Amino acid sequence: MRILLASSEVYPYSKTGGLADAVGALGKALAKAGHQVGIVTPLYRGIRERFPALQQVDWRFDLPLGAKRVGAELWTLAAPAAPDRLTVYFIQQPAYFDRAGLYGDNGTDYGDNGERFIFFDKCVVHLARYLPWRPEVLHVHDWHAGLVPLLVAQQARADGWVKPPRVCLTIHNLAYQGCFSRGTFALTNLPGNYFTPDTAEFYGQLNCLKAGIAGAEVITTVSPRYAREITTQEFGAGLDGLLRKRQPALVGILNGVDYEEWNTTSNPHLAAAYSAADLSGKAECKRALQTEFALTANPHVPIFGCVTRLVEQKGMDLALGALEEMLAAAMQFVLLGSGTPDCERAFVNLAGRFPGQVGVRLGYDQALAHRLEAGSDFYLMPSRFEPCGLNQMYSLRYGTIPVVRRTGGLDDTIVDAIENPTAANGIKFSDCSAHALARAMRKALVLYQEPELFAQYRRNAMAAEFSWAQVVQQYLAVYRHP
Ligand code: ADP
Ligand code: GLC
Repeated sequence: MRILLASSEVYPYSKTGGLADAVGALGKALAKAGHQVGIVTPLYRGIRERFPALQQVDWRFDLPLGAKRVGAELWTLAAPAAPDRLTVYFIQQPAYFDRAGLYGDNGTDYGDNGERFIFFDKCVVHLARYLPWRPEVLHVHDWHAGLVPLLVAQQARADGWVKPPRVCLTIHNLAYQGCFSRGTFALTNLPGNYFTPDTAEFYGQLNCLKAGIAGAEVITTVSPRYAREITTQEFGAGLDGLLRKRQPALVGILNGVDYEEWNTTSNPHLAAAYSAADLSGKAECKRALQTEFALTANPHVPIFGCVTRLVEQKGMDLALGALEEMLAAAMQFVLLGSGTPDCERAFVNLAGRFPGQVGVRLGYDQALAHRLEAGSDFYLMPSRFEPCGLNQMYSLRYGTIPVVRRTGGLDDTIVDAIENPTAANGIKFSDCSAHALARAMRKALVLYQEPELFAQYRRNAMAAEFSWAQVVQQYLAVYRHP
């Protein structure tokens, strides 16, 4: 098949969260399965310097954006994983994308995000229409590409586009919908009949994700449980009604893990290699982590780790409450994260109060994320909701036992002893409270005291397999039979 993916972030070129990992790995896996794949994404600051093989191609965009026209250039890169089948297309529009952050900086979104991503969507549609290899499927991700389905529909209806590609939308996170003032809709140049409660309008505003849900032929989200959850009022973020209506076209497909990137056997970021058969390297990783975070060097004290965006979704306020309760026990806690100033401050304070026991690093650091996963014994994920979650799957492969809230993809990927004692690979809790998390952490401490049982959990965890090769088959089925 010939497939064009569109995403506002793609690993390894740009990343703020799991969206980048998921789209980067999906593109690679589709190409490896023999398909012709393109990925289109903005050319953000610094990408050209980090990837000198990028080339400008002879293609200029000059597209209407409301009353004005905006130009852009196209750069491409043959992805090293499958150079003949996977091309990454970068939209170069420096005024929109050559900025310090992807979506904002200093904790504030850019005021023109609507304009930036409406323009991006127009470039995506233009590419899909005129690329010489004629994509059969256009697979767009999250709100940033949410207007693509309606733009395609409009060109097919009124602008002579014969046989446009089938458009698939994947919702990675329903909490981010891309809502902008009514006036922003004019930048789409779509007729007013697309600004209705059945299409792009949401309480008088333009809602880009809603437009995508209304217009896509098929909608996927990143785990089966989240696909069910988002049709309920509790998790539907105001769009559950529309999602119920679109339920026949809605499918949950669990993300995979790029094991070439996330492994413990040949990983340049780790202090030592290890495997399920020989865990001695993991002990070395733990020692190195304790040193790096200035924790008391003690191989017998369990470390709970966490790498996350510090936002409401991730439930780190529950973690703060649970830690207040738990830090009297023999345990250590390490965090790598960035997010809201309040949450950042609270964790820095905690580290100040518990020197040698709590280590906190603010910021974004891919290499440290690997070291933290490898050096920890348990991994905390107390999310309020979690469409899929990748870190718990990375933790499994790293032999780091996940302690997760029973929601979304966390529930679909982790096995608790209550569900299956012999296959258990993690600990789950249900209530959205610090107390429930603390109880789950106490279970973890008990497990840690039972070396044989703990070893069994580790074996189960490290044997879990979420490879993209099988995920790709599910996407292909969706691409073929909406
Ligand atoms: P989400 O996309 O909601 O943030 P996921 O679990 O799907 O959650 O993916 C998060 C990804 O972002 C993981 O690859 C994780 O390692 C990475 N990540 C999050 N915060 C940081 C950070 N501060 N430094 C490095 N990597 C991070
Ligand atoms: C989103 C979700 C996360 C998911 C990721 C990749 O950021 O919050 O749960 O794993 O997208 O699909």
